[in-house]
This record gives sequence, C-alpha cells and structure tokens, in this order.
Amino acid sequence: MRDEEKSAALLDWYDRHARDMPWRVGPADRRQGVLPDPYRVWLSEVMLQQTTVAAVRAYFLKFTALWPRVTDLAAAEDPDVMAAWAGLGYYARARNLLKCARAVTANHGGVFPRTREGLLTLPGIGPYTASAIASIAYDERATVVDGNVERVMARLFDIHTPLPTAKPELTERAEALTPASRPGDHAQAVMDLGATICTPRNPACGICPLREPCLARARGTQGELPRKLPKAVKPTRLGIAYVARRADGAWLLETRPDKGLLGGMLGWPGSDWNDDPQPNPPINADWTLLEAEARHTFTHFHLRLAIMTADVAVQDVPDRGQFVPASRFRPADLPTVMRKVYDLAAATLRPV
Ligand code: ADE
Repeated sequence: MRDEEKSAALLDWYDRHARDMPWRVGPADRRQGVLPDPYRVWLSEVMLQQTTVAAVRAYFLKFTALWPRVTDLAAAEDPDVMAAWAGLGYYARARNLLKCARAVTANHGGVFPRTREGLLTLPGIGPYTASAIASIAYDERATVVDGNVERVMARLFDIHTPLPTAKPELTERAEALTPASRPGDHAQAVMDLGATICTPRNPACGICPLREPCLARARGTQGELPRKLPKAVKPTRLGIAYVARRADGAWLLETRPDKGLLGGMLGWPGSDWNDDPQPNPPINADWTLLEAEARHTFTHFHLRLAIMTADVAVQDVPDRGQFVPASRFRPADLPTVMRKVYDLAAATLRPV
C-alpha cells in the first residue's frame, strides 16, 4: 500500500472517530475552513507534553478562562501563572510559557507567527511544538513526532532500531506519510490512533484503519515495538521540609528561585536535596519530626523528604520565607511534592 493510501485510510478513520477536546476543531468544521486559534493550540500542546489529555483538560479550561488570549497571558503576574500550573510538573515550561506569550505580544503584535520557521524563533517553542501549531492551526505540511507517532511508525514499518537511535528514521517515515492536503487533521489522527488503538500495551489491531499495511502486525512483532534502550537507574536524594504554622493559621512558605528545580514555585522552606541533607530550619521553633516522609519522583531522581512541623507565635520572625495568611493559602497552588508534604503535615497539626 502506498503512503497516500495509508494516510487516506487514516483520515477516513479520523473523520469518524476524532476525539473531542476543548482546544480542537473537529474534522467536519475544518472542512468548512474553520481553524483553531493558534494560542489555544500552543497552550494545549505545551501542556500535553507533560501529561495525558484527561489531566490537561481542566488545566486548559482554567488557563483559557483566566487568560482568553495570548495578550492576556502576557499581562498576567508570574506567581498567578505558576499557581495555575501547579500540579502539571516541569515548571520551567510554565516560565517559558510566559516568556513566549510576552514575546508574541511584544514582538509580533499579539499574533503567533504564521509559519513553522517563524514559530521556531519564539522562546520555548521547539521542533515538536512548532510543527504542531503550524500543522494544526495553519494547515502547513509540517510533521509532528511525539511518543504516539514514534510508536505508530515503528509498528507500521516494523522498525526494530531502539529509541532514541531510531528517532531520525521514524521522523522520516512520519514525514513521508504526511499528506499535502489536511496535514493538521493528519497530525491529530496519528496522535489519536496512538492514544486509542495503537496503544503501548494490547494494541487493538483488529479495528485499526492501518491493519492491512502494518508490517509489525503481519509479523506479530507489534508487542515488542518500539524498542527502547534501557533507561539509566534513578538515584534517590534526601531532604528536609519545614512546615511552620503560626497561631493565626498563617503558613511559612517561600518562593523558590527562578533557576533550578521547581523554579518560581511556592514551597516549604527546606534543606538542599542530596545524600546527606543538613538541617536548616527557617525559623527558631520547637520542631517535631513526622513519622511519615513525602516521596516524589522527578525526571532524574527519586526524592524522600523528611517533614518537620512546628507551631509558632504571631510575633515570631522567620530567617527566610514569608507567612501566607490562611485566607490566601491554597494547597492547590503548590507543586505536587510540596502538596504531598502539606497533606502529611496538615493531618498531624491540631486545628487552629
Ligand atoms: N497529544 C498531544 N497533542 C495532541 C493532539 N493535538 N491531539 C491528540 N493527542 C495529542
């Protein structure tokens, strides 16, 4: 089967089975010439690099309700954007998001550049995001390659080279398959296929629109693909987090420095994270060690945080951090690891 026939079969399937997403314009409307707002495509694609469609929905709706246009986001206060991003992870992405919104506003009159090449000049927009916006929002013949697309290509062409070595080869196959007509629907179709039919485990080959040309299916290798080089084992780091609550209910928090892990996010003051963390409480108090520790896994390491709690007086002055009044403190504004610390600590403090 020629590439044109494969992409026609895929588009035909997409016309019937496209998933509904708040940032998506469905195939029927696109045929009428309706294209999605590049701001919404950009925002959703940056969010989708962290996590699943299901998890992104609520964040996307929150962001677009608070900041309906890119110029609104550009004008937002940094801490408000970081708080709205809390829980999505990879916080450098949220800072880049703001940088990009401000660049679009300041240098492009609030309008995203109209080509993949123009999009690539923006901060935080790499090949994946540029291709996604160019194809989905502008119907430019650009090819999107994410984990779904890699899996579909590895199976369709029965490619056994392990990732990441196979990436250029898989990209070439994906490019050859991208049609000149409807490249935006095609990009979304491959991703939908990878997410719903050509899944990592137990792919539903029996109902796949590409079951006939699929070489892996013919040879029975789909379960082994894509091959991946073994991942490096993650080290474990240790740390101490200090949760101080004032008699009026205020919590001692600090905004982490912009550079580094969880940069710009709100969190509990703590030690460095390493093999042998040294105590450095942020305020002089009678600290109690909790029995439970918070565990969290980042991209490159596991973290185990010991938790110290203390009740302090209204007149006590911290060495670092600021007290956030109970009325302004929202646990949901914390990044997930800090939220875990809060949940464990709050369960042991008596009510004020
Ligand atoms: N995953 C990331 N981007 C996507 C999109 N535009 N459609 C479906 N799944 C996706």
